[in-house]
Amino acid sequence: MYTKEAKELYEKELRSIVESGLYKDELLIDSPQDREIRVDGRRGTLLNFCANNYLGLANNSEVKQAAMKSIEEWGYGLASVPFICGTQTIHKQLERKFSEFLGMEDTILYSSCEAANVGLFEVILGFDVIISDQLSHATIIDGARLWQVINKKKLDQGNVVLPEIRVFKHSDMTDLEKHLQETQDRRLRLIAVDGVFSMDGDIAPLREICDLAEKYRALVMVDDSHATGFFGPTGRGTPEYFGVMDRVDIITSTMGKGLGGAVGGFTSSRKEIIELLRQRSRPRLFSNAVPPVVVVATMKILDMIDSSAALRDRLNENAAYFRQRVSELGFDVQPGIHPIIPVMLYDAQKAVDMATRLVEEGIYVRAFSFPVVPRGQARIRVQIAATHTREDLDFALEKFAKVGRELSIVKCG
Ligand SMILES: Cc1ncc(COP(=O)(O)O)c(C=O)c1O
Repeated sequence: MYTKEAKELYEKELRSIVESGLYKDELLIDSPQDREIRVDGRRGTLLNFCANNYLGLANNSEVKQAAMKSIEEWGYGLASVPFICGTQTIHKQLERKFSEFLGMEDTILYSSCEAANVGLFEVILGFDVIISDQLSHATIIDGARLWQVINKKKLDQGNVVLPEIRVFKHSDMTDLEKHLQETQDRRLRLIAVDGVFSMDGDIAPLREICDLAEKYRALVMVDDSHATGFFGPTGRGTPEYFGVMDRVDIITSTMGKGLGGAVGGFTSSRKEIIELLRQRSRPRLFSNAVPPVVVVATMKILDMIDSSAALRDRLNENAAYFRQRVSELGFDVQPGIHPIIPVMLYDAQKAVDMATRLVEEGIYVRAFSFPVVPRGQARIRVQIAATHTREDLDFALEKFAKVGRELSIVKCG
Protein backbone atom coordinates (compact mmCIF):
# COMPACT_ATOMS: atom_id res chain seq x y z
CA MET A 1 0.00 0.00 0.00
CA TYR A 2 1.31 3.41 -0.99
CA THR A 3 0.95 5.18 2.36
CA LYS A 4 0.79 8.92 3.00
CA GLU A 5 4.13 8.60 4.82
CA ALA A 6 5.80 6.94 1.82
CA LYS A 7 4.43 9.61 -0.55
CA GLU A 8 5.66 12.40 1.73
CA LEU A 9 9.06 10.78 2.06
CA TYR A 10 9.54 10.64 -1.71
CA GLU A 11 8.20 14.16 -2.20
CA LYS A 12 10.65 15.48 0.37
CA GLU A 13 13.52 13.69 -1.36
CA LEU A 14 12.49 15.14 -4.72
CA ARG A 15 12.28 18.65 -3.23
CA SER A 16 15.79 18.30 -1.87
CA ILE A 17 17.06 17.24 -5.32
CA VAL A 18 15.46 20.38 -6.82
CA GLU A 19 16.72 22.64 -4.02
CA SER A 20 20.28 21.39 -4.33
CA GLY A 21 20.23 22.16 -8.06
CA LEU A 22 20.67 18.51 -9.02
CA TYR A 23 17.32 17.94 -10.73
CA LYS A 24 17.77 16.60 -14.24
CA ASP A 25 15.30 17.53 -16.95
CA GLU A 26 14.98 15.09 -19.81
CA LEU A 27 15.01 16.79 -23.17
CA LEU A 28 12.29 15.52 -25.51
CA ILE A 29 13.61 14.87 -28.99
CA ASP A 30 10.96 14.84 -31.64
CA SER A 31 13.08 13.35 -34.43
CA PRO A 32 15.68 10.60 -34.95
CA GLN A 33 19.00 11.06 -33.14
CA ASP A 34 21.30 12.86 -35.58
CA ARG A 35 23.56 15.87 -36.13
CA GLU A 36 20.39 17.91 -36.28
CA ILE A 37 17.42 17.24 -34.01
CA ARG A 38 13.94 18.60 -33.40
CA VAL A 39 13.41 19.27 -29.75
CA ASP A 40 10.53 19.91 -27.36
CA GLY A 41 8.10 21.13 -30.02
CA ARG A 42 10.40 24.07 -30.83
CA ARG A 43 10.10 25.46 -34.33
CA GLY A 44 13.13 24.58 -36.39
CA THR A 45 15.93 22.33 -35.32
CA LEU A 46 19.00 22.32 -33.11
CA LEU A 47 22.48 21.26 -34.13
CA ASN A 48 23.35 18.46 -31.78
CA PHE A 49 26.70 18.66 -29.98
CA CYS A 50 26.06 16.41 -27.04
CA ALA A 51 25.31 12.88 -28.25
CA ASN A 52 27.78 10.00 -28.10
CA ASN A 53 26.96 9.44 -31.76
CA TYR A 54 30.63 9.69 -32.72
CA LEU A 55 30.47 7.99 -36.12
CA GLY A 56 27.02 9.44 -36.80
CA LEU A 57 25.56 5.96 -37.32
CA ALA A 58 22.48 6.33 -35.11
CA ASN A 59 20.36 7.31 -38.12
CA ASN A 60 22.56 5.99 -40.92
CA SER A 61 20.65 4.63 -43.91
CA GLU A 62 22.83 1.52 -44.43
CA VAL A 63 22.51 0.64 -40.75
CA LYS A 64 18.75 1.17 -40.82
CA GLN A 65 18.45 -1.03 -43.93
CA ALA A 66 20.35 -3.82 -42.18
CA ALA A 67 18.18 -3.37 -39.08
CA MET A 68 14.91 -3.51 -41.04
CA LYS A 69 16.01 -6.60 -42.94
CA SER A 70 17.00 -8.29 -39.70
CA ILE A 71 13.54 -7.81 -38.22
CA GLU A 72 12.10 -9.74 -41.18
CA GLU A 73 14.68 -12.50 -40.86
CA TRP A 74 15.21 -12.80 -37.11
CA GLY A 75 12.13 -11.27 -35.51
CA TYR A 76 11.83 -8.48 -32.99
CA GLY A 77 12.50 -9.91 -29.55
CA LEU A 78 13.89 -13.04 -27.94
CA ALA A 79 11.65 -13.36 -24.92
CA SER A 80 14.38 -15.19 -23.06
CA VAL A 81 17.62 -14.84 -21.20
CA PRO A 82 20.56 -16.05 -23.34
CA PHE A 83 21.06 -19.47 -21.74
CA ILE A 84 17.43 -20.63 -21.79
CA CYS A 85 16.50 -19.87 -25.40
CA GLY A 86 17.80 -16.40 -26.16
CA THR A 87 20.95 -17.08 -28.16
CA GLN A 88 20.57 -17.10 -31.92
CA THR A 89 23.36 -18.02 -34.30
CA ILE A 90 23.80 -14.30 -35.02
CA HIS A 91 24.64 -13.64 -31.37
CA LYS A 92 27.52 -16.09 -31.61
CA GLN A 93 28.61 -14.53 -34.90
CA LEU A 94 28.70 -11.09 -33.31
CA GLU A 95 30.65 -12.38 -30.31
CA ARG A 96 33.22 -13.89 -32.71
CA LYS A 97 33.31 -10.68 -34.73
CA PHE A 98 34.03 -8.58 -31.64
CA SER A 99 36.79 -11.01 -30.60
CA GLU A 100 38.44 -10.77 -34.01
CA PHE A 101 37.96 -6.99 -34.15
CA LEU A 102 39.66 -6.50 -30.78
CA GLY A 103 42.19 -9.32 -31.08
CA MET A 104 40.75 -11.07 -28.01
CA GLU A 105 40.15 -14.78 -27.45
CA ASP A 106 36.43 -14.59 -26.72
CA THR A 107 33.53 -12.20 -26.15
CA ILE A 108 30.24 -12.26 -24.27
CA LEU A 109 27.33 -9.96 -25.08
CA TYR A 110 25.31 -8.11 -22.43
CA SER A 111 22.24 -5.92 -22.61
CA SER A 112 24.45 -2.89 -21.82
CA CYS A 113 27.99 -1.99 -20.82
CA GLU A 114 26.60 -1.26 -17.39
CA ALA A 115 25.53 -4.91 -17.20
CA ALA A 116 29.00 -5.99 -18.44
CA ASN A 117 30.75 -3.93 -15.75
CA VAL A 118 28.38 -4.85 -12.93
CA GLY A 119 28.57 -8.52 -13.86
CA LEU A 120 32.35 -8.75 -14.15
CA PHE A 121 34.21 -8.45 -10.87
CA GLU A 122 32.02 -10.67 -8.70
CA VAL A 123 32.74 -13.53 -11.09
CA ILE A 124 36.48 -13.23 -11.60
CA LEU A 125 37.61 -11.88 -8.22
CA GLY A 126 37.26 -13.23 -4.70
CA PHE A 127 39.29 -11.94 -1.77
CA ASP A 128 41.40 -9.92 -4.12
CA VAL A 129 42.07 -6.27 -4.94
CA ILE A 130 40.69 -3.84 -7.51
CA ILE A 131 42.88 -0.80 -8.12
CA SER A 132 40.71 1.69 -9.94
CA ASP A 133 41.41 5.11 -11.44
CA GLN A 134 39.83 7.90 -9.41
CA LEU A 135 37.71 8.83 -12.46
CA SER A 136 36.63 5.34 -13.49
CA HIS A 137 33.05 5.24 -14.73
CA ALA A 138 30.16 4.88 -12.26
CA THR A 139 29.37 1.39 -13.60
CA ILE A 140 32.90 0.15 -12.79
CA ILE A 141 32.46 1.53 -9.29
CA ASP A 142 29.04 -0.15 -8.96
CA GLY A 143 30.45 -3.48 -10.13
CA ALA A 144 33.37 -3.20 -7.70
CA ARG A 145 31.08 -2.33 -4.78
CA LEU A 146 28.77 -5.24 -5.56
CA TRP A 147 31.74 -7.62 -5.64
CA GLN A 148 32.94 -6.23 -2.32
CA VAL A 149 29.55 -6.65 -0.66
CA ILE A 150 29.20 -10.22 -1.91
CA ASN A 151 32.67 -11.17 -0.55
CA LYS A 152 32.47 -9.54 2.86
CA LYS A 153 35.50 -10.97 4.61
CA LYS A 154 37.15 -14.25 5.40
CA LEU A 155 39.50 -15.54 8.03
CA ASP A 156 42.71 -16.89 6.58
CA GLN A 157 45.18 -18.46 9.08
CA GLY A 158 43.85 -16.17 11.78
CA ASN A 159 44.03 -13.04 9.57
CA VAL A 160 40.98 -11.20 8.29
CA VAL A 161 41.14 -10.91 4.49
CA LEU A 162 38.92 -8.34 2.80
CA PRO A 163 38.09 -7.78 -0.83
CA GLU A 164 39.71 -4.42 -1.27
CA ILE A 165 38.93 -1.52 -3.58
CA ARG A 166 41.82 0.90 -3.92
CA VAL A 167 41.63 4.13 -5.88
CA PHE A 168 44.68 5.68 -7.53
CA LYS A 169 44.96 9.36 -8.41
CA HIS A 170 43.70 10.04 -11.90
CA SER A 171 46.21 8.66 -14.44
CA ASP A 172 48.99 8.98 -11.85
CA MET A 173 51.39 6.11 -12.47
CA THR A 174 53.44 6.78 -9.34
CA ASP A 175 50.32 6.40 -7.23
CA LEU A 176 49.24 3.28 -9.13
CA GLU A 177 52.67 1.73 -8.54
CA LYS A 178 52.43 2.53 -4.83
CA HIS A 179 49.13 0.61 -4.62
CA LEU A 180 50.62 -2.29 -6.57
CA GLN A 181 53.61 -2.40 -4.23
CA GLU A 182 51.42 -2.33 -1.14
CA THR A 183 49.28 -5.25 -2.30
CA GLN A 184 51.98 -7.67 -3.44
CA ASP A 185 50.93 -10.35 -0.97
CA ARG A 186 47.41 -10.54 -2.44
CA ARG A 187 46.29 -13.34 -4.77
CA LEU A 188 44.98 -11.24 -7.70
CA ARG A 189 45.13 -7.52 -8.40
CA LEU A 190 43.03 -5.98 -11.15
CA ILE A 191 43.69 -2.48 -12.49
CA ALA A 192 40.43 -0.92 -13.76
CA VAL A 193 40.32 2.19 -15.94
CA ASP A 194 38.24 3.88 -18.61
CA GLY A 195 40.07 3.96 -21.95
CA VAL A 196 38.72 7.47 -22.45
CA PHE A 197 37.41 9.40 -19.46
CA SER A 198 34.06 10.77 -20.43
CA MET A 199 34.07 14.15 -18.70
CA ASP A 200 37.50 15.31 -19.90
CA GLY A 201 37.99 13.23 -23.04
CA ASP A 202 41.48 12.33 -21.81
CA ILE A 203 42.98 8.92 -22.40
CA ALA A 204 44.30 6.43 -19.86
CA PRO A 205 48.08 5.92 -20.26
CA LEU A 206 47.64 2.27 -21.19
CA ARG A 207 51.27 1.60 -22.15
CA GLU A 208 52.52 2.60 -18.70
CA ILE A 209 49.59 0.82 -17.06
CA CYS A 210 50.44 -2.42 -18.92
CA ASP A 211 54.13 -2.04 -18.00
CA LEU A 212 53.23 -1.75 -14.32
CA ALA A 213 50.73 -4.58 -14.60
CA GLU A 214 53.44 -6.83 -15.99
CA LYS A 215 55.98 -5.76 -13.36
CA TYR A 216 53.51 -6.50 -10.55
CA ARG A 217 51.55 -9.33 -12.20
CA ALA A 218 48.20 -7.55 -12.18
CA LEU A 219 45.27 -7.92 -14.57
CA VAL A 220 44.29 -4.91 -16.72
CA MET A 221 40.66 -4.08 -17.42
CA VAL A 222 39.66 -1.21 -19.74
CA ASP A 223 36.16 0.15 -20.26
CA ASP A 224 36.50 1.43 -23.81
CA SER A 225 32.95 2.72 -24.28
CA HIS A 226 34.12 6.10 -25.60
CA ALA A 227 36.60 4.58 -28.06
CA THR A 228 35.41 1.29 -29.58
CA GLY A 229 34.78 1.66 -33.29
CA PHE A 230 36.44 5.01 -33.88
CA PHE A 231 39.52 5.63 -31.76
CA GLY A 232 42.96 4.32 -32.74
CA PRO A 233 44.35 3.82 -36.28
CA THR A 234 41.61 1.36 -37.33
CA GLY A 235 38.98 2.09 -34.68
CA ARG A 236 39.89 -0.71 -32.30
CA GLY A 237 40.02 1.69 -29.39
CA THR A 238 42.57 2.83 -26.84
CA PRO A 239 44.56 -0.47 -26.70
CA GLU A 240 45.18 -0.12 -30.43
CA TYR A 241 46.05 3.56 -30.05
CA PHE A 242 48.80 2.65 -27.58
CA GLY A 243 49.88 -0.57 -29.35
CA VAL A 244 48.93 -2.75 -26.35
CA MET A 245 46.10 -4.85 -27.80
CA ASP A 246 47.84 -8.05 -26.69
CA ARG A 247 48.56 -6.73 -23.17
CA VAL A 248 45.09 -5.67 -22.01
CA ASP A 249 43.31 -8.60 -20.37
CA ILE A 250 39.70 -7.43 -20.31
CA ILE A 251 37.83 -4.92 -22.46
CA THR A 252 34.26 -3.90 -21.72
CA SER A 253 32.40 -1.62 -24.06
CA THR A 254 29.03 -0.48 -25.36
CA MET A 255 27.08 -0.56 -28.60
CA GLY A 256 25.26 2.50 -27.29
CA LYS A 257 27.75 5.13 -28.46
CA GLY A 258 30.05 4.99 -31.52
CA LEU A 259 28.64 1.64 -32.70
CA GLY A 260 25.24 2.91 -33.78
CA GLY A 261 24.05 4.16 -30.41
CA ALA A 262 21.22 1.68 -29.76
CA VAL A 263 21.80 -0.53 -26.71
CA GLY A 264 24.00 -3.43 -25.76
CA GLY A 265 27.43 -4.07 -24.34
CA PHE A 266 30.05 -6.75 -24.19
CA THR A 267 33.15 -8.05 -22.46
CA SER A 268 36.09 -9.36 -24.52
CA SER A 269 38.85 -11.23 -22.77
CA ARG A 270 40.81 -14.46 -22.29
CA LYS A 271 38.74 -17.56 -22.99
CA GLU A 272 38.62 -18.82 -19.38
CA ILE A 273 37.35 -15.46 -18.15
CA ILE A 274 34.59 -15.32 -20.76
CA GLU A 275 33.62 -18.93 -20.06
CA LEU A 276 33.31 -18.14 -16.36
CA LEU A 277 31.19 -15.09 -17.15
CA ARG A 278 28.87 -17.28 -19.26
CA GLN A 279 28.48 -19.58 -16.27
CA ARG A 280 28.15 -17.08 -13.47
CA SER A 281 27.67 -13.46 -14.51
CA ARG A 282 24.29 -12.49 -13.09
CA PRO A 283 23.26 -9.74 -15.55
CA ARG A 284 23.92 -12.23 -18.35
CA LEU A 285 22.17 -15.13 -16.64
CA PHE A 286 19.11 -13.28 -15.44
CA SER A 287 18.44 -10.60 -18.06
CA ASN A 288 17.15 -10.77 -21.62
CA ALA A 289 19.33 -11.36 -24.65
CA VAL A 290 20.34 -8.44 -26.88
CA PRO A 291 17.58 -7.96 -29.51
CA PRO A 292 18.48 -9.48 -32.90
CA VAL A 293 18.05 -6.14 -34.65
CA VAL A 294 20.92 -4.71 -32.57
CA VAL A 295 23.06 -7.77 -33.21
CA VAL A 296 22.65 -7.62 -37.00
CA ALA A 297 23.08 -3.84 -37.16
CA THR A 298 26.25 -4.03 -35.04
CA MET A 299 27.74 -6.63 -37.39
CA LYS A 300 26.96 -4.32 -40.29
CA ILE A 301 28.63 -1.44 -38.44
CA LEU A 302 31.79 -3.47 -37.73
CA ASP A 303 31.97 -4.29 -41.46
CA MET A 304 31.52 -0.61 -42.34
CA ILE A 305 34.29 0.36 -39.93
CA ASP A 306 36.65 -2.16 -41.50
CA SER A 307 35.79 -1.35 -45.08
CA SER A 308 36.31 2.41 -44.97
CA ALA A 309 38.20 4.89 -42.84
CA ALA A 310 36.09 7.79 -44.16
CA LEU A 311 33.88 8.30 -41.10
CA ARG A 312 36.79 7.91 -38.68
CA ASP A 313 38.90 10.39 -40.67
CA ARG A 314 36.04 12.84 -40.82
CA LEU A 315 35.45 12.56 -37.09
CA ASN A 316 39.13 13.21 -36.34
CA GLU A 317 39.27 16.18 -38.72
CA ASN A 318 36.08 17.65 -37.25
CA ALA A 319 37.29 17.22 -33.68
CA ALA A 320 40.71 18.77 -34.41
CA TYR A 321 39.09 21.68 -36.26
CA PHE A 322 36.55 22.47 -33.55
CA ARG A 323 39.09 22.08 -30.75
CA GLN A 324 41.54 24.45 -32.38
CA ARG A 325 38.99 27.07 -33.45
CA VAL A 326 37.15 27.19 -30.13
CA SER A 327 40.49 27.67 -28.31
CA GLU A 328 41.41 30.44 -30.76
CA LEU A 329 38.16 32.18 -29.80
CA GLY A 330 39.60 32.43 -26.29
CA PHE A 331 37.74 29.60 -24.60
CA ASP A 332 39.58 27.47 -22.10
CA VAL A 333 39.58 23.97 -23.58
CA GLN A 334 41.05 20.87 -21.97
CA PRO A 335 43.91 19.66 -24.18
CA GLY A 336 43.41 16.41 -26.05
CA ILE A 337 42.63 14.65 -29.30
CA HIS A 338 39.29 12.98 -28.58
CA PRO A 339 35.92 14.19 -29.97
CA ILE A 340 34.87 14.95 -26.39
CA ILE A 341 35.89 18.62 -26.08
CA PRO A 342 35.27 20.13 -22.65
CA VAL A 343 34.90 23.92 -22.76
CA MET A 344 35.72 24.99 -19.22
CA LEU A 345 33.57 27.62 -17.49
CA TYR A 346 34.46 26.53 -13.90
CA ASP A 347 31.43 28.33 -12.43
CA ALA A 348 28.27 26.16 -12.46
CA GLN A 349 25.86 29.06 -13.08
CA LYS A 350 27.98 30.39 -15.92
CA ALA A 351 27.96 26.95 -17.54
CA VAL A 352 24.16 26.73 -17.25
CA ASP A 353 23.73 30.28 -18.64
CA MET A 354 26.02 29.53 -21.54
CA ALA A 355 24.27 26.24 -22.39
CA THR A 356 20.83 27.89 -22.13
CA ARG A 357 21.83 30.71 -24.47
CA LEU A 358 23.46 28.33 -26.93
CA VAL A 359 20.27 26.27 -27.10
CA GLU A 360 18.32 29.47 -27.81
CA GLU A 361 20.80 30.11 -30.63
CA GLY A 362 20.22 26.63 -32.12
CA ILE A 363 23.17 24.71 -30.63
CA TYR A 364 22.28 21.82 -28.37
CA VAL A 365 24.87 21.47 -25.61
CA ARG A 366 24.53 20.80 -21.90
CA ALA A 367 26.25 22.15 -18.84
CA PHE A 368 28.01 19.68 -16.54
CA SER A 369 28.64 20.63 -12.95
CA PHE A 370 29.03 19.04 -9.50
CA PRO A 371 28.53 16.14 -8.73
CA VAL A 372 29.13 14.95 -12.30
CA VAL A 373 32.45 16.84 -12.32
CA PRO A 374 34.38 18.19 -9.28
CA ARG A 375 33.18 21.42 -7.68
CA GLY A 376 34.52 24.49 -9.48
CA GLN A 377 35.11 22.49 -12.69
CA ALA A 378 31.81 23.21 -14.47
CA ARG A 379 31.92 22.95 -18.21
CA ILE A 380 30.12 22.49 -21.46
CA ARG A 381 31.04 19.12 -22.88
CA VAL A 382 31.00 19.41 -26.65
CA GLN A 383 30.83 16.11 -28.52
CA ILE A 384 31.71 16.03 -32.18
CA ALA A 385 30.33 13.57 -34.75
CA ALA A 386 31.60 12.42 -38.13
CA THR A 387 28.35 13.65 -39.66
CA HIS A 388 28.81 17.28 -38.60
CA THR A 389 29.54 19.36 -41.68
CA ARG A 390 32.11 22.14 -41.77
CA GLU A 391 29.15 24.55 -41.93
CA ASP A 392 27.71 23.00 -38.74
CA LEU A 393 31.01 23.47 -36.94
CA ASP A 394 31.42 27.06 -38.18
CA PHE A 395 27.84 27.87 -37.18
CA ALA A 396 28.43 26.46 -33.70
CA LEU A 397 31.72 28.37 -33.37
CA GLU A 398 29.99 31.59 -34.39
CA LYS A 399 27.37 31.01 -31.69
CA PHE A 400 30.00 30.12 -29.08
CA ALA A 401 31.73 33.42 -29.88
CA LYS A 402 28.48 35.39 -29.73
CA VAL A 403 27.28 33.92 -26.45
CA GLY A 404 30.79 33.92 -24.96
CA ARG A 405 31.05 37.67 -25.60
CA GLU A 406 27.57 38.33 -24.24
CA LEU A 407 28.43 36.55 -21.00
CA SER A 408 31.91 38.14 -20.83
CA ILE A 409 33.61 34.76 -21.07
CA VAL A 410 35.68 35.69 -24.12
CA LYS A 411 36.63 38.97 -25.75
CA CYS A 412 36.99 37.72 -29.32
CA GLY A 413 35.95 39.61 -32.46
C1 LIG B 1 32.70 4.80 -19.72
C2 LIG B 1 31.31 4.26 -19.77
N1 LIG B 1 31.09 2.97 -19.42
C3 LIG B 1 29.86 2.44 -19.44
C4 LIG B 1 28.76 3.19 -19.81
C5 LIG B 1 27.41 2.54 -19.82
O1 LIG B 1 27.11 2.09 -21.12
P1 LIG B 1 25.69 1.45 -21.43
O2 LIG B 1 24.80 2.59 -21.82
O3 LIG B 1 25.92 0.49 -22.54
O4 LIG B 1 25.24 0.78 -20.19
C6 LIG B 1 28.92 4.52 -20.17
C7 LIG B 1 27.74 5.33 -20.53
O5 LIG B 1 27.59 6.47 -20.28
C8 LIG B 1 30.23 5.08 -20.15
O6 LIG B 1 30.43 6.36 -20.46
